[in-house]
Amino acid sequence: TRTLDLAVIAGDGIGPEVTAEALRVLRAAVGDEATVTQTDYPLGATHYLATGEILGDETLEKLAQHDAILLGAVGGDPRDPKLAGGIIERGLLLKLRFAFDHHVNLRPTRILPGVTSPLADPGDVDFVVVREGTEGPYVGNGGALRVGTPHEIANETSVNTAFGVERVVRFAFAQAAARRGRLTLVHKTNVLVHAGGLWQRIVTAVAAEHPEVSVDYLHVDAATIFMVTDPARFDVIVTDNLFGDILTDLAAAIGGGIGLAASGNLNPSGDFPSMFEPVHGSAPDIAGQQKADPTAAILSVALLLEQSGLGEAAARVTRAVEADLAARGATPRSTAEIGAAIAEAAAA
Ligand code: NAD
Ligand code: IPM
Ligand code: MN
Repeated sequence: TRTLDLAVIAGDGIGPEVTAEALRVLRAAVGDEATVTQTDYPLGATHYLATGEILGDETLEKLAQHDAILLGAVGGDPRDPKLAGGIIERGLLLKLRFAFDHHVNLRPTRILPGVTSPLADPGDVDFVVVREGTEGPYVGNGGALRVGTPHEIANETSVNTAFGVERVVRFAFAQAAARRGRLTLVHKTNVLVHAGGLWQRIVTAVAAEHPEVSVDYLHVDAATIFMVTDPARFDVIVTDNLFGDILTDLAAAIGGGIGLAASGNLNPSGDFPSMFEPVHGSAPDIAGQQKADPTAAILSVALLLEQSGLGEAAARVTRAVEADLAARGATPRSTAEIGAAIAEAAAA
């Protein structure tokens, strides 16, 4: 029988709460279609404050051996000076995305039946953002001069390579070809001319190989308008790391809330494990209260199963989430109650 060897980084805040439910649903949906093994890695802000470790080379090597990584959320109290400057976010989350070459950050949005979107009449919303995951302003290639003086200069450099852009654009075209055949490049080519020019030229070149895909371009500011006024127009959006970060929180909001938004950090070559996580963070404001919606983490499990060749189990998870959403009433349920209901419906 198949095996699925998981690394689990539950993380901080609501991370452990939602991850417990995601794993419960995963095990129920897989049943005996695969033997699931799980190794827990206690990483995150809490672990760092207790041990001084953010992510050591040895841990990184161990993580690399797994089939896939499931991550809850990382990040502690932003007011804690020991955690200033996103030390955990950059040293753990981004380090994993870079080290494991997660160049595709796949973030789907659908407005599922039963879900209330803040948009009055959103239409049939079903799109996926293909966010580049290893380049852009996230590389940390900046610097500052005369810090703390009135003449301070603070630079953040966005790195865009032909290699890096082409591979994520090719992935996005393949997605569009398998979906409704529409691809939208989102950038800011009217201002960021060097990077924008590269993205535009690569999209045009790859488009020639995909006559079945219709290609569209939007500046990122205008893209936020259409995401609110006409989100049903989108099928596949391809964009850089930072624009993709911002657009996918907006996408989560129109899709019924951040508690529903799933993501996969993919290494399509399979050289390193892909990593699946909700789009949301550690939500310190509601942590430890069983108030978090585990649905985003559970839908991230569906992506994990799909990418791991367990498509039937993935479909059971998705159907169970859809049924749960359709039946949600006004009575609030705990994180565990939602997880248990979905797990029961997803059982193989
Ligand atoms: P956040 O996503 O943690 O929270 C934003 C708002 O959404 C909060 O009001 C929160 O209560 C709510 N929310 C989030 N997830 C929810 C859920 N599952 N159910 C119900 N409500 C939910 O974003 P933030 O406040 O900007 O960041 C908090 C910490 O998380 C920071 O340290 C940040 O760096 C980190 N972060 C981590 C990740 C990650 O690990 N992938 C992603 C984003 C932010
Ligand atoms: C996300 C998060 C991360 C990002 C942060 C925590 C580094 O916001 O996964 O969307 O910006 O990619
Ligand atoms: Mn984000």
